[in-house]
Amino acid sequence: MHCDTPARSAAIVADGLRKSYGDKVVLDGVDLSVPEGTIFSLLGPNGAGKTTAVKILSTLVTADAGDLRVGGHDLATDPQAVRAAIGVTGQFSAVDGLITGEENMLLMADLHHLSRREGRRVAAELLERFDLTEAAKKPASTYSGGMKRRLDLAMTLVGAPRIIFLDEPTTGLDPRSRHSMWQIIRELVSGGVTVFLTTQYLEEADELAHRIAVLHDGRIAAEGTADELKRLVPGGHVRLRFTDPAGYRSAADALREAARDDEALALRIPSGGSQRELRSLLDRLDSAGVEADELTVHTPDLDDVFFALTGGAAVPHQPTEAAR
Ligand SMILES: Nc1ncnc2c1ncn2[C@@H]1O[C@H](COP(=O)(O)OP(=O)(O)O)[C@@H](O)[C@H]1O
Ligand SMILES: [Mg+2]
Repeated sequence: MHCDTPARSAAIVADGLRKSYGDKVVLDGVDLSVPEGTIFSLLGPNGAGKTTAVKILSTLVTADAGDLRVGGHDLATDPQAVRAAIGVTGQFSAVDGLITGEENMLLMADLHHLSRREGRRVAAELLERFDLTEAAKKPASTYSGGMKRRLDLAMTLVGAPRIIFLDEPTTGLDPRSRHSMWQIIRELVSGGVTVFLTTQYLEEADELAHRIAVLHDGRIAAEGTADELKRLVPGGHVRLRFTDPAGYRSAADALREAARDDEALALRIPSGGSQRELRSLLDRLDSAGVEADELTVHTPDLDDVFFALTGGAAVPHQPTEAAR
């Protein structure tokens, strides 16, 4: 592993991307940049414009405006080269249910002009990798939702694309299939592939993405790592738990601003979780001569971020009277 890799070049760049359908402005000046070999997540609710963005960046729909580059190629002047560099797995699968999983794979191999022998080899390898070997000879219509998604992604990988667009790859999947899809996506990226992932699930973006962009009202309302987005939202706190009721009472006396949970012998203190705040808190506990049995720092989760950014709902949190 290199530790001193130079700044990676961008696999996907959009600058001022705009798209309207009639009067409806769907994308109203979207800027984004996805470094090679990373997972970028475009996060937004139904109707936010995620699929529209994917369709544009994968050459299926033309933008009204914007400088767009994918795989180093200009979308406006060289869509053919972009197409050769990418794979797309849509919200609505390309899987043909009437033929078997293996036949679907061989069809893709044909489309990519692989020889019969090479096609069979690649198909078998991918079916194996996605745990579909046993089902390979069965019609795809008999597959579960999770199996269909895996087959769809396997088909996308036949052409060995370096950039993959995954449009809501886990929507509608049960938790187990979702986790297995997450594992597959992680493996792709560890192999150097760039993934552009759309999702409505904050948890999914948090779990997978190096960077997350929140799409709201046709624009990127916020962009950053999951941690950076979480820091945008106040509402973090430290929780102290005690096993000894006397210690709990002394701590509660020393930390007047804490919210008490007498039953759990726990105190909740508003805090951004910085080293300075934590040190000051520990100092105050020391002066009071008490020691907590457990200290946990809680940052707001992505749900809080999303609602805070998009004005969906007030984020419930205690008035922050900084403990200094
Ligand atoms: N071909 C189209 N013609 C007209 N309106 C469209 C078309 N495609 C998408 N839209 C509208 O654009 C908006 C964004 O849609 P979409 O990109 O599918 O959102 P998402 O994928 O985030 O759910 C929606 O209001 C949708 O109705
Ligand atoms: Mg969509």
